[in-house]
Amino acid sequence: MNVNSWSENLVIEHWPKRDPNSHKGNHGKVGIIAGSQLMPGAAALCAGAAVESGAGLTAVNTVRTVIPIVAGHVPEATFYHRDDDLNGFMEGKDAVAAGPGLGRLSDDIIEDLITNFDGPLVIDADGLYELRSHEVIIRKRTAPLIITPHAGEMARIINEDIEYVTGNRYEAAEKLAIDYGIYVVLKGPETIVAEPDGTLWVNHTGNAGLAKGGTGDVLTGMILAFIGRYDDIQPAVSSAVYMHGYAADYLIEHGEAMESVTASKVIKILSSSFERLI
Ligand code: APR
Ligand code: MG
Repeated sequence: MNVNSWSENLVIEHWPKRDPNSHKGNHGKVGIIAGSQLMPGAAALCAGAAVESGAGLTAVNTVRTVIPIVAGHVPEATFYHRDDDLNGFMEGKDAVAAGPGLGRLSDDIIEDLITNFDGPLVIDADGLYELRSHEVIIRKRTAPLIITPHAGEMARIINEDIEYVTGNRYEAAEKLAIDYGIYVVLKGPETIVAEPDGTLWVNHTGNAGLAKGGTGDVLTGMILAFIGRYDDIQPAVSSAVYMHGYAADYLIEHGEAMESVTASKVIKILSSSFERLI
């Protein structure tokens, strides 16, 4: 099995330089469908990571009561009510991510997005819960679909147990990517990115400090923002995964204990991580 490593040099080589004459519309208008009454933080982390990763405009679709919470953390974001027409939210978006803290009763949103959103779509967390039931519309979809499961979410999608996934990570990611014609980001130590043609990339940054709730939501916001800024999907996704781990490694280098790494701290150190590497 041929596995490629996404390296520091590749991140630097593909990094989209910000044109001095650019405006916010050039850096991706991205949409995030996330958060629910009991999981407001997922939306805040995802949106905060997108803004801090360079997205030009970040819009958040969430439940009414969560809007002021997210706005308090991410004043740069704009908002849509979860109950409003989804078409209005999709309109004009360069890329959309859905799932963090969404709750498992929102699967009609996922179905609608897979069917009707014609740009790159990232699905994570609760958005993956019923994914297997959408295999027909996923295969029909022509725009890129990127899914970001951890081992447990992956096991549910492919109807295997977690032990199978953890013992056969490359095979599982490759098979699902080819079968559905999608990008599969199988998370964990050494996150794998599988392209729709089965090409495999592995990431070597990151540490066990990331094994804490909320870090996956940060990765989703980063992947979304990177997709909004890059021309091609795979370099965007692999570079986001790389920088997410790199930022966590940078926290440790700065004297952070692994126990005290948090998703919010990863967002805060993104800026100096980009600055140091690029
Ligand atoms: N080494 C390196 N990276 C790691 C490690 C590790 N030991 N453990 C976790 N990570 C990274 C993963 O690669 C991934 O990028 O941290 C991130 C964790 O993401 P998730 O597993 O999705 O965790 P998170 O989303 O924060 O959990 C919150 O969302 O997905 C649901 O079921 C999940 O309810 C939970 C919620
Ligand atoms: Mg998660």
